[in-house]
Amino acid sequence: MTLNVRTFDAALGAEVRDVDLSNPPDDETFAAIEEAYNEHSVLLFREQSIDEVQHLAFSRRFGDLEVHVLDQYLHPEHPEILIVSNVMDGDRHVGIYDAGRYWHTDLSYMAVPSRGSLLYAIEVPHDEDGKPLGDTLFASTSAAYDALSDSMKSRIADLKAEFSLANRHAKLIADGDANAELEDRHHDRAPPAVHKIVRTHPITGRKSIYVNEGQTARILDLPEDEARDLLEKLCTHCTKPEFVYRHKWRPGDLLMWDNIPTQHLAICDYALPQRRYLHRTTLRGTPPQ
Ligand code: OGA
Ligand code: MN
Repeated sequence: MTLNVRTFDAALGAEVRDVDLSNPPDDETFAAIEEAYNEHSVLLFREQSIDEVQHLAFSRRFGDLEVHVLDQYLHPEHPEILIVSNVMDGDRHVGIYDAGRYWHTDLSYMAVPSRGSLLYAIEVPHDEDGKPLGDTLFASTSAAYDALSDSMKSRIADLKAEFSLANRHAKLIADGDANAELEDRHHDRAPPAVHKIVRTHPITGRKSIYVNEGQTARILDLPEDEARDLLEKLCTHCTKPEFVYRHKWRPGDLLMWDNIPTQHLAICDYALPQRRYLHRTTLRGTPPQ
């Protein structure tokens, strides 16, 4: 069997056609999907119509799922689904309303970061002309690694950095989001983590740059100025246009991405009454290499 895979005109990503995720794919189809996922890092399945149980079942084919540390935004009946939404219930946010204002990789601040995420769009905001808003950008950090000079590759080969959820929230608060305070239970479950800033993909063997704007607090074991300059330089490098795919959402899109060789950014160019509502599952990873 051949899976119908159309690569995007970008450094990463592909659309998989002719697969209806409301029926569990047979083993052969699933193996082809997994291969395409490892190869392209971002996979899009359009025009899907799946409920929570079907979303979870497809996600679990890839392995164990995470229950997100920001537990105030979990689906009330299915805690392995994180609600990504700007919708309010009275004065309560029903979901994480600012999932990705800064470039980031999901759960990079955990000791064992996530393998991947599967985001299913139920409501997508649009302007008066019907143009979708709230795009998501994905950058290939493996293409970015490959494009580094040999001297930069050897300079960063053994460096490590500290990652922290608190770093992201401090940035949100500094940008005026008073609602972004973390509770003690969040700090307890997600203390800062240290990872190498060059990761090797456990399946493809490809190397990628592993730092991001939102969650990398600092590169370790370098003088402070040098560490800050290097972090900024690497973050800017990773998100150059030539490494980026920009996703324009449609309701019914299931977009899944590999959290090892990518980072992503949400564009917040909409506001209520323009509603955005998505469900995310998160794949548990393995300790970074
Ligand atoms: C996420 C995320 C971005 C978006 O769900 O991990 O970063 O555009 N989402 O919703
Ligand atoms: Mn994210």
